[in-house]
Amino acid sequence: MESNTQKLIHSFSALADLGQEIADSGDFIEMVRTSLHLLLGTIGIRRGAVVECLIHREETNTLALWGLGEDYQATLTVHEEDRAAFLGLTEGALRIDADVEGDEQPLSAFLSRHRDELRAQEIELVVPTVVRGAVTGLVLLGRKATDEPFTSEDIEVIRAMVRHIGVGIHTHRLLGEIKQRAEENERLYQDLRAIYRDTVRAFAAAIDVKDTYTQGHSERVGKYSEIIAQEMGWGENEVEGIAIAGYLHDIGKLAVERKIINAPYRIDAKESSELNRHPAAGFDILSPIHHPYADIPLMAKYHHERLDGRGYPDGLTDTQIPIGAKIVSLADSFDAMTTDRPYKTRRAFDSVIHDLRANTGKQFDVQVVAAFCRALLKELTGETKERKFLKMLGKNYLDAEKDAPLLRELLNELDPNTQAAAAVG
Ligand SMILES: [Fe+2]
Repeated sequence: MESNTQKLIHSFSALADLGQEIADSGDFIEMVRTSLHLLLGTIGIRRGAVVECLIHREETNTLALWGLGEDYQATLTVHEEDRAAFLGLTEGALRIDADVEGDEQPLSAFLSRHRDELRAQEIELVVPTVVRGAVTGLVLLGRKATDEPFTSEDIEVIRAMVRHIGVGIHTHRLLGEIKQRAEENERLYQDLRAIYRDTVRAFAAAIDVKDTYTQGHSERVGKYSEIIAQEMGWGENEVEGIAIAGYLHDIGKLAVERKIINAPYRIDAKESSELNRHPAAGFDILSPIHHPYADIPLMAKYHHERLDGRGYPDGLTDTQIPIGAKIVSLADSFDAMTTDRPYKTRRAFDSVIHDLRANTGKQFDVQVVAAFCRALLKELTGETKERKFLKMLGKNYLDAEKDAPLLRELLNELDPNTQAAAAVG
């Protein structure tokens, strides 16, 4: 009696170990191997194997071997009807040498196919791993080291441990499926993003076509905004979002008369107020769309607001203006200054710097201007390999020797840290 109790305790602790192993293991094959080893050790069996039944196929795949011929590969064929019969085993295990009859009869074909091979490996017992009414694999077990026959108690313990192995196989498959789904979802999501970006680009091109004098303006504002946001340390998603906002900032112009947009002269007050409808019109166009990025309609709405409250459409002041709108605003103004317009040619760079200096704190946000200067300076001095600004501005517009000092000077004036350092020094 006492030895039976001890055996029971031993079995339970082995089961607990097995559960732990399955829960802890990141390596599926290692988990199956260890589980098999634990099972063999608990009952005192010298050899065994775990095979999985492949999904929608009749072949098996060997997951773990112990004590069998090294190059032995258990290549069993398990038909649909075999699986059903394995589920119905009265003892929960199939003895190779027993005569199969009754409900187990369908397995006689399985045995006649594999009996010789299994006997050659001294396998005596085949135990199916069953999870949620499906056979996921088979555990093949040799005879006990003591040569005693398996008792029904042994079979109980074996079945309990095999159930754990089955759960391990099942979990592994579920994880595999989840991973595959996640990858599919990720691909779909990337496709959708690409479609969205292409659509936005097409829109930007449509806006620029309407405005014949500012070809490529929307695209450049998108790219300038992106560079500034990157320099400000924004995350990848947010940077993508602001690029989109830049592309779309003038979408409201689609609602403004073409002759006002394309007027080859300075427009009068009435025309100007018509043109100034475009940020709010842009907001109305963009709001009903579900954008994968935050605040795009607001960035379009407020790209003509100014820190001093003299902008439009709402006359917001500094802290009321979203940072994204501040970035687009600077990108927009910078492009306006550095491209030819119907009534004026583009401004020389020192004049642009002069404008930025005069208007930072009134029209433009100091952090945004500083980030803009840093990014441009990095390109000019070759600190960054990319030439995004320089490409868009054209070859001869900037001169590193002349213009880098201008940028540095402005940066020194803007950067509160540098100012503090200068004050201390
Ligand atoms: Fe605009």
